Order: sequence, then structure tokens, then C-alpha cells
Amino acid sequence: MVVPSTPSTYKLPNDFLWGFATASFQIEGSTDVGGRGKSIWDDFSKIPGKTLDGRDGDVATDSYNRWQEDLDLLVSYGVKSYRFSLSWSRIIPLGGRNDPVSEEGIKFYSDLIDALLARGITPFVTLYHWDLPQALHDRYLGWLNKDEIVQDYVRYSRVCFERFGDRVKHWLTMNEPWCISILGYGRGVFAPGRSSDRMRSPEGDSSTEPWIAGHSVILSHAYTVKLYREEFKEKQGGQIGITLNGDWAMPYDDSPANIEAAQHALDVAIGWFADPIYLGRYPAYMKEMLGDRLPTFTEEELKVVSGSSDFYGMNTYTTNLCKAGGDDEFQGNVEYTFTRPDGTQLGTQAHCAWLQDYPEGFRDLLNYLYKRYRKPIYVTENGFAVKDEDKMPVEEALQDHDRVQYYRGVTESLIKAVNDDGVDVRAYFAWSLLDNFEWADGYITRFGVTYVDYETQKRYPKESAKFICKWFKEHITVE
Ligand code: NOJ
Repeated sequence: MVVPSTPSTYKLPNDFLWGFATASFQIEGSTDVGGRGKSIWDDFSKIPGKTLDGRDGDVATDSYNRWQEDLDLLVSYGVKSYRFSLSWSRIIPLGGRNDPVSEEGIKFYSDLIDALLARGITPFVTLYHWDLPQALHDRYLGWLNKDEIVQDYVRYSRVCFERFGDRVKHWLTMNEPWCISILGYGRGVFAPGRSSDRMRSPEGDSSTEPWIAGHSVILSHAYTVKLYREEFKEKQGGQIGITLNGDWAMPYDDSPANIEAAQHALDVAIGWFADPIYLGRYPAYMKEMLGDRLPTFTEEELKVVSGSSDFYGMNTYTTNLCKAGGDDEFQGNVEYTFTRPDGTQLGTQAHCAWLQDYPEGFRDLLNYLYKRYRKPIYVTENGFAVKDEDKMPVEEALQDHDRVQYYRGVTESLIKAVNDDGVDVRAYFAWSLLDNFEWADGYITRFGVTYVDYETQKRYPKESAKFICKWFKEHITVE
């Protein structure tokens, strides 16, 4: 597909932040080093069948040891910002509010933050990117126990604000609550792997648990934001918000039933979290779909939840065509496809089944979110996994044309949304700085703009890294 280029006068503001994103468990490795406690992904990724290639996160991209090399890479790319996550169990090995803090864990991140700042790179920090301390799962089933987890998470956040908040001015509470809840407690394909499907999990109840987990995530986020605003925000002068996954939902055709199905898809994937946080209520369709399986907020809780994000953190990868029908218990009355009514595909297929390249959807999503939630948008993740990249020799993988094409389309959509549509977008982070541990896909699916040879841990910049760096440098106004 040819994406028409935009006028050269189209720019992004000078203070627009751009860079790359990673997450602790996906890159750090060294899971039993530096006093780190276990996370729920440590053992889960070792259970046969849980990752496609049977590999775990023990080494990943070895960034616990190679973080300085990773910083050199960021410097060579000329980024303005770097999004990474903190491992809760490196900071509080047992996770709980009365458990000791590990000074070694604090030092690891403190040094990283200092080193970023020394290089003029703004740290953009995620507090929780899926690596729950195993001890909290063992004690009370983690996100399934609202009263316990809210207190433990808020205390963990407090430690982070106290120890890093003098230098970190951009906080994300949670990464992709939908994945935490549905994939961890519904489908059971992510840790802790609970599901009603007994082939997948010996325990769990998919009809209730994902909605309970999601509710706890919202409350943990909200009470942490309350804490930050009451005790740290003024003194430290930072911003805090949540980042939600959500792909654009396009009606399969213009029949009213399919138009409605697309809205329902957005309600379940995005509105589940965004509506309470930005609008103060769960979407009506969620209530219709779940009845009393959807937990409710007390009046006091709702006051804390409503308005609890300074911005909209947007993770997005693709567009789905939506049809009414289907019986997926987590999607409601909606079926997803990439095949248009005329039999053609929406875009280029990625390595993972759920992703095709359709950049127009990126612009539509930005417009939808801005209109509905009225908050500045930070694109905290966006990227593409080239088909069969894992099977290519490195020289071939570095010529990642499909990924370049993806980023070309998305950046065009971004700049049009800002310049033509007036959407207030303030940051863009490509996923990911490195090929890394792609959760249930193991190391087979590669999202990096930097190729990682897992035998040697050597890093090689791909064409897409060069494209992104050049594009942002050309499109940011320098006064
Ligand atoms: C979203 C997640 O936040 C990230 O951890 C993951 O690797 C990417 N999507 C790609 O699937």
C-alpha cells in the first residue's frame, strides 16, 4: 500500500518525546541476582508448553548486565526518552507492604536513571509490566485479592516515588491491564496462567476472575495516583497515568449490527479501563455483557478512580475488522477478522497472528481516544514483528522492510492526526528497543528495532531503527 507523504511543513512540537520501550522481565534476565525475589513469570515460563520455543526469561537480553551497552545504543539512536519498567520483586523481593526493600534493587534502577539523565535522555517509567512478585500470588492470589493487592501495590509505588521521584517525572502505573486480566486470569496463556480451560490450568474461573483482577488493577492504579498527587506531585513536579492496550476496531461493513459490534469491541478492550478512569463509570455494554460478574465500585472508590490519569497512555499495534456474532466469552458479541468482505487482507501480516499493518487505523484510534477521553495522548508502545525473522540470517533480518513500512505508515498517521486533526499527542515510543522475551511466544517473535543474537547477545541495529531516528529528527521543530 502506498501512503501519500505529508507536506514538509508538518511538524511535531519541540518538546515531543520519542524513543523506544522495553520491560524488565523481557530484557533483564539475571532473575536470581541482586537479591531479586521471584516473579510470577519466572516459574510460569519454565512450564513445558507455556512458551512457543520452550525458553524462559532467565537470561533474556541480559540487560541487567548489559544496560550500559543498551544506553550506548539509545545514545547512538539520538532518542529523547526511554520507556522501561521496574521489577517489583527486585525492589521489594517479597512484594508486600511489610516486606523489606532491597537496596541492591534500588541501586540498579537508580544508576540506570542517573545514567539516562547524564545522557540527556528522559526516563519514562512503568511501575508494573506484568512481573508480579511470586510471593504475593502465593500469599493471596495477587490481583484476585483486591484488599491486599491495593495496599501492597501502593506501598511499592511509594518506595519508587521516594527513591526515584526526584529524577523521574513521567510515571506509568500499569501496563495493559486488559492483558494482565484476560490473558493471565481468563485465557490462562500469561502468568499466573489461571483459566477454566483445564487443559491449560488446574485452577481458575474464567467467568469471574479476569473481571475481578481488572477491578483490582484499576483500584491499585487509582490509589497510587492519589498518593502521588497528595504527597509527591507538587514537590517532584511529575506526571502520572496509566497505559492501556487497544487496537482500532473497524466495522466489517456498514451494516448497523457490525457498526455496533465495533463499538462493543472498543468498550470491552479499552472502555473497560478507560471509562472508569476518565469518565467515572464502567461502559454500559460491559454491564450488559457481564451482569453481576462485573464488580462495582463504592462511592468513595469511584471518586478516587474518576480522573485518575494525567494523560492517556496508548499502546496499539493493529486494527481489527469487527462483525457481530461469535461466542468468545471475553470479547462479547464480536468476531474479529483481517479479511475484508471482498476477500482481501487488511494489511501485511506480522509474525504473530493478531497483527497486520494498517496505519490508517492508528490515526482513527488517536482521534477516537482524544475525542472521547479529552486527554493529551502518549503513545507508549507501537511496533511490528516481521514474519519469520527468527529464521533469517542476521544480515537479512537487518533489512526489515515490512517493519520500516509499518513505521512509515504509522508516523504519517501520527503527524496527520497532530497537524490535520488537532489531536494532542506528546510522545511516541516504538516497541521495542531490542528483540526480547515476547512472553508466551518466547524468543520466536521479534519486535526489536535492534536485532539480538541470543547466542552472543550481540546487538545489531535494523533498518527500522534508522528510519525512526531519522524521521523524528526531521519532524521535530527545533527553535
Ligand atoms: C504489549 C506489551 O506491553 C509488551 O510487553 C509486548 O511485548 C508487546 N505488546 C508486543 O506483543
